[in-house]
Amino acid sequence: MKALITGASSGIGKEISKYLASFGYDLYVVSRNKEKLDKIYKNFKVKVTTIGLDLSDYNNCIKLHDMLKDKNIDLLVNNAGFGDAGFFNNTSLDKEIDMIKLNVVSYHVLTKLFLKDFIKKNHGRILNVASMAGFMPGPNLATYYATKAYVLNLSLAIYEELRQLNSNVKISVFCPGPVDTNFDNVANSKFRVSYISSEYASRYAIDNMFKNKLIIIPSNMKLNHLLIRLVPTKLILKVNSLIQGKNKDEIEK
Ligand SMILES: NC(=O)c1ccc[n+]([C@@H]2O[C@H](COP(=O)([O-])OP(=O)(O)OC[C@H]3O[C@@H](n4cnc5c(N)ncnc54)[C@H](OP(=O)(O)O)[C@@H]3O)[C@@H](O)[C@H]2O)c1
Repeated sequence: MKALITGASSGIGKEISKYLASFGYDLYVVSRNKEKLDKIYKNFKVKVTTIGLDLSDYNNCIKLHDMLKDKNIDLLVNNAGFGDAGFFNNTSLDKEIDMIKLNVVSYHVLTKLFLKDFIKKNHGRILNVASMAGFMPGPNLATYYATKAYVLNLSLAIYEELRQLNSNVKISVFCPGPVDTNFDNVANSKFRVSYISSEYASRYAIDNMFKNKLIIIPSNMKLNHLLIRLVPTKLILKVNSLIQGKNKDEIEK
């Protein structure tokens, strides 16, 4: 069995890779920093191929698929992503375009190309790492939340298409709340709710993916998920603005 994991040098991607290795999966792991990947994966007992690519470049997503399309990948985990906290009128447009290219375009391209291969073989799985952010708007992290809504909705629609095709190919979408990773350092964000560990989050995601769950929400966020659907949008905006995404320096004052 072979798995391709993007964003495997840190946080959720690293823990998902470790957990998949414990099931005997050979790994293809991707991040921009190949040296870091080589260090992390050097003592793994399974076969690991480390690939340094910037997936915010569309051409690199195509290149990745070209490199691996004949390797009989069984599982694609789209995970590489980042956020950037701040009011939309202040945040960097260049950074946001890169975010959309990574969080949206790379997921879109890799999902499409590997899905086509999987459908041909009538075998394969895709796990898209979205977020609870996909279910609601996120003041202070507006673009990030919007990217996650894209991933969530794309994955759900594909699920139904696979069902109509009677395909054995599976797709799941992982929607955790805050996870203790390097995310906040990159995004300069801080959430006023408890964080789960990346190890717990990743095991939860993979265990439920193997149970063919479509939307995977860790237990600590199940009530929030329900409330999001019941509470009026303007109230969600206020509450969400209070609990998340404030500039980290401001919160730690
Ligand atoms: N942490 C949370 O609270 C949380 C909650 C819900 C969902 N998520 C989602 O979980 C996923 C993983 O995030 P994380 O929390 O584990 O964050 P993280 O610790 O910062 O890991 C991000 C990973 O993405 C890679 N990456 C970043 N930019 C890349 C690029 N342009 N090309 C290729 N790889 C790139 C990073 O490696 P390099 O820097 O070496 O490239 C790293 O391996 C993201 O999609 C995030 O949105 C996180």
